[in-house]
Amino acid sequence: MNVTMIGAGYVGLVSGACFAEFGAHVTCVDANPDRVRQLESGHMPLYEPGLDALVRKNQEQGRLHFSGALECVAGSELVFIAVGTPSRRGDGHADLKFVFQAARDLAPFLGGYTVVVDKSTVPVGTAREVKRIIAETNPRADFDVASNPEFLREGAAIGDFMRPDRVVIGIDSDRAGERLRELYRPLNLIETPMVITDLESAELIKYASNAFLATKISFINEISALCEAIGADVHAIARGMGLDGRIGRKFLHPGPGFGGACLPKDARALVQIAWERGVSSRIVSAVLEVNDAQRARMVEKIRAALGGRLEGKRIAVLGLTFKPETDDMREAASLFILPKLVEAGAAVRAHDPQGMEEGRPLLPGSVEYCDDLYSVFDRADAAVLLTEWNLYRGLDLKEILRRMAGRIFVDLRNVYEPRKMRAAGFEYYGIGRA
Ligand code: UGA
Repeated sequence: MNVTMIGAGYVGLVSGACFAEFGAHVTCVDANPDRVRQLESGHMPLYEPGLDALVRKNQEQGRLHFSGALECVAGSELVFIAVGTPSRRGDGHADLKFVFQAARDLAPFLGGYTVVVDKSTVPVGTAREVKRIIAETNPRADFDVASNPEFLREGAAIGDFMRPDRVVIGIDSDRAGERLRELYRPLNLIETPMVITDLESAELIKYASNAFLATKISFINEISALCEAIGADVHAIARGMGLDGRIGRKFLHPGPGFGGACLPKDARALVQIAWERGVSSRIVSAVLEVNDAQRARMVEKIRAALGGRLEGKRIAVLGLTFKPETDDMREAASLFILPKLVEAGAAVRAHDPQGMEEGRPLLPGSVEYCDDLYSVFDRADAAVLLTEWNLYRGLDLKEILRRMAGRIFVDLRNVYEPRKMRAAGFEYYGIGRA
């Protein structure tokens, strides 16, 4: 099958490389010529484990190409729109200008029957609007539109694509459904459930899924504050709850609030979608409020650990990205927490295995970055673990204490055992653990 993937960003690149791995002939088209050149010469514009090898392999085997031009649409049975949908400034709504532009640009190239598939996360009704735009731009085009949202986690995207919990396909014609089923046929081997539904439902499944994941996180974060107040252990609560199959154990890990390119943006967009239809979304609105409050609570936790004053304190920060195994800084907790520490007069030194370059322009100018992990602790009054990279799971505690001026360790991901940390000589603070 011939596939065009419009947008060689995170979703487009991962999906394009994985479809090529399934045996399709894929051309990823991107409007940014630098990105196309970079990809053609084998350089990844982003960090995702396993992606560079998968891209290289499929390029070498002739199934994956990169281009700046849309001519390839003419020979494609499927054209995916996988461009960005950033939050629009002001109203939080997903900005669809790139999606609609892609629809307008691809329309003149449509040859024989083609299925145009929305892969970007787009508000309900977008697929129909894409259909309208294409029909208006090229009235002779023989095409259908489908919605095929992705459920890829950054850092685990290839595995999520190759072994998904489900594939969601929204269609308004059986012919389009057949073609997408054919593309995903390799997943029949592992009996992946296919949810075939209408366009609007497919679009809403994506938002509802991300908003629900965000709800689980805000829920456990709220419970973690309660645990601190009553001396209970949030992990015991999460396990005790999560073993109930109706609740499930995943996404009940407390932390400094959810971040990333998806959960916050999609939760905001869902609130907006509901509001536009005169429907209230009180739960999701509260989930977002709790997330903001959790971040603010983390700053207070660090302040309290330092005796109520941040001024003049030296703080070592471990991890800047919104989660491990990515260089993505979008809506990372560090972007909220570090400026507050600096504003209050603390001197911050930070380490992150992938995020320092991305983080530098986004964080206060006074933050110092350490390439060498242990030097981040030099003369620090407190250490704050913000992102749970594997590298931070087995730290040499003696070496840290030797380098630090103080012995305060604030673990905002509950990576360490409180008892062990205290026995090692730290004044240890976690989340939701007495
Ligand atoms: C999320 C969804 O998990 C994917 O299914 C979805 O496809 C993707 O968004 C998307 O819409 O494209 P991602 O943003 O990569 O994936 O990251 P998650 O693993 O969901 O983590 C999001 C945030 O929640 C991170 O800041 C993470 O640290 C936090 N988190 C996650 C917690 O604080 N606790 C948890 O138990 C789980």
